[in-house]
Parts: sequence; C-alpha cells; structure tokens
Amino acid sequence: MDSILVTGNGPLNGQIPIAGAKNACLTLMPATLLSEDPLTLTNAPRLSDIKTMTALLQSLGAEVSSLQDGQVIAMSSHNLTSQTADYDIVRKMRASNLVLGPLLARFGQAVVSLPGGCAIGARPMDLHVEGLEALGAEIELKDGYLHAKAPGGLKGAVHEMRFASVGATENIVMAATLAKGTTVLKNAAREPEIVDLVECLRKMGAQIAGEGTSTIEIQGVDRLHGATHQVVTDRIELGTYMLAPAICGGEIELLGGRMSLVESFAAKLDAAGVSVEETDKGLKVARKNGRVTAVDVVTEPFPGFPTDLQAQMMALMCTAEGTSVLEERIFENRFMHAPELVRMGAQIEVHGGTATVTGVECLKGAPVMATDLRASVSLILAGLAAEGETTVSRVYHLDRGYEHVVRKLEGVGAKIERIKGE
Ligand code: UD1
Repeated sequence: MDSILVTGNGPLNGQIPIAGAKNACLTLMPATLLSEDPLTLTNAPRLSDIKTMTALLQSLGAEVSSLQDGQVIAMSSHNLTSQTADYDIVRKMRASNLVLGPLLARFGQAVVSLPGGCAIGARPMDLHVEGLEALGAEIELKDGYLHAKAPGGLKGAVHEMRFASVGATENIVMAATLAKGTTVLKNAAREPEIVDLVECLRKMGAQIAGEGTSTIEIQGVDRLHGATHQVVTDRIELGTYMLAPAICGGEIELLGGRMSLVESFAAKLDAAGVSVEETDKGLKVARKNGRVTAVDVVTEPFPGFPTDLQAQMMALMCTAEGTSVLEERIFENRFMHAPELVRMGAQIEVHGGTATVTGVECLKGAPVMATDLRASVSLILAGLAAEGETTVSRVYHLDRGYEHVVRKLEGVGAKIERIKGE
C-alpha cells in the first residue's frame, strides 16, 4: 500500500488549482438515471470515488465514458438493465445510495443495499426513506437491501425533514422531478452541491425553485432530457488548501475559489489571524503574523462550519497560540485523527463530540495512519508544519477525495512524495 512522506519545509507560496467538487459530482452522476438522453459533466475531479460511482452506474446498464483525462464524464441511461445497487459497490461508498431516488422515479422500483457502518459513524438512511415514502413509495428492508416501489408512480407531497441531510435532500429532489404534482421539501439542506444539482436538473428540464434555502419546491414533469453541466468548485478541497499557508506561513492563491463557498470557514481563519481575499482568479490566503490564534469551532450544516473541514482545522489549531474547542455535531465518531495528531506532539483531549486542543509551538514528524479521507489530509497538513519527516499510510483514503495532492503541494514548495508500497 502506498504512503506519503512529508517533510516540514517552511512557508509555502504560489498557486493551487482547485478541482470540481467530489460531492457534487457524486450526486450529478446518478442524475443521468432520470433521463434516457445523454448527460455530460465537465470539470469532473479525477478521484477513486468517481470510479466507484462509474462502476455502479455501469452495473445498472448505463454507458459512462471518461474523456479528456477524466475531466469530462459522458453518460447515457437509455438502455438500463438493472435497478439493483449491489452491496459490493455500495459498501465501498455511501454516496452509492444516491441512485435510489432517480431509479425509483424513472422505473417505479429500485433495490439498493444499505451502506452499513462506516468509519465516521452509523450514517443510516431513515431520512431518505421517510422522504420517498412521503412521495408515495413503499419501502421495505430485506436481506440488508432497501426494496422500494411506487407502482402507480410517485406523487408530489409536502414533507419536512427531521434533519437537513444532504444525501436525503438530493435523493428526494431527484425523485420529485418526475413525480406527479408539486413537492415542497422543508428543512432541506442548503449546501452548494445541492444548488449545483438543481442547476443541472433544471438544464434537464426539471422545474425547481428555492435551492440554497431550506424550502425547495419541485413541480414534477413527465420526462427529463439531456444536458451538459459544469461541476461546481470543490469547497472542501479549497478549504483544505487554504489551510496550507495558514499552517506553514506564506501566501497561496487558490484558483477557482470563491468566498461564497467557504464564508463561515474563512471567518474562522480571519479570527485566527489568516487573511482571505477574493482575487479575479480565486482566493488569496496568507498568514497575517507569526503563529495563528486559537479559535473555537462548531460543525453545522451549510452555511455553518463544514464537518468535512473539521479534521484539517484541528491540524491548524494544534499549532495555534492558546486553547481551542472543536465541537463535532454532524457525525458522532469523527475525531480519529486526534490520536494520530497526538503522536506528532499535539495536545488534544477528546470527550464525546468535543475536542479540546492546546496549541504547541512545533509538531514533530512521525509515522501516522489515516482512517478516513479528511483525517488523512489533516495529517498531511500537520506534517507540512512539523519538524522532520511524517509518513502518512493508507493513502487510498486520500485518493478518494484529493486529485494530484503531491503535485499540487509540490507546486507551492512543499517537500512531499508518494512512496509506492507492495
Ligand atoms: C454528505 C457528504 C459528506 C459530508 C456530509 C455532511 C456527499 C457524497 N457526502 O454526506 O462528505 O460530510 O454530507 O456535510 O455529499 N443521517 C441520518 N439519517 C439519514 C441520513 C443522514 O441520521 O437518513 C445522519 C448521518 O448519520 C449524519 C448526518 O445525518 O450524522 C449528516 O448526514 P448527511 O447530511 O446525510 O450526509 P451525507 O449525505 O451522507
């Protein structure tokens, strides 16, 4: 298994291009199932999660081609052969459950494996099921699979979600595009990836209003047609690389970045002593003085501080002046990076969903191991700021969500290399 070797090397300067959003792409790809016409995505990120979604769609009979070195994904679902998403694929990636809403809407039936436990918590699907049942679906759990059907088709309804789940919002919105009548989804998630999905669905002929607010209204139509859509910038990759100059010093311009994608995160960086400025090409980030100042963080649904940047922010707080409290409110088990950061000399105490971090002047390189995607990149950030060498193993987590991480960081002066394993 490959690992990444990072050697602390002082301030970082230059530009980093930010890719299209993994999480947007993973919900835009299943949207192809809603129509028999082709759907083409541009600005797609080159990631193993995208390959997993490609394999899932192909297993359903969709045609999926990767063009222009993977940046363009051309899909067609005119000849689907299956409505079953197998456990073998779904267990690899929770976002596989996003085929449920589209399949049910177009074919009146779908069988989708429950994803099962994952490293960052239980992550059930009850909110997806409740929303689709409100649209008239009948859903049963048998042998680990959700068996969903809507013999007479889905019917629009007013539904309020108990929690603003991102995936449930996406599944319900996609399903409602082909339902009879109007659906009003209340307490919907407001993430930029949902806005991006709705923009794509609208190009396909869907009638939707209210995306980006907590009430989304969908007027069902008889059919959707083909479209071409550019995937929105990845705000989590953006936020991750914004932390590179914050933790190492220097100044980096993140090409394609926009403040509206990372408002609450940038506000925290500003409070910690890191300036974020919009330029005509993206966002320019620089550490204002010497060490950053400790700030408290609470993760929340968008527009709050994203849970997907909590681990990386913790790496920064490990080197801050003072004590910070990081509260994780989205996932129940998302501090696995903490003991690894402690191996690098960080002072962190975890109690339930709260981590208290007392900054140290300098972290020390160490062999560390990541248990999920965002945890692994937080260890790379910590390694960039540490004295000596840090080896991050289990790099396959990183490949799920960060394209060309070595090349991008090398480009701004980091000492980082990928070591090939057996
Ligand atoms: C998406 C993102 C993920 C991000 C998360 C929160 C994708 C592919 N993934 O995941 O990177 O960390 O949003 O911003 O877009 N829950 C339930 N029942 C459900 C659904 C969710 O209890 O039916 C719970 C989950 O266990 C979790 C919380 O709600 O504790 C948030 O989950 P959700 O917003 O659904 O996240 P995902 O869509 O899985």
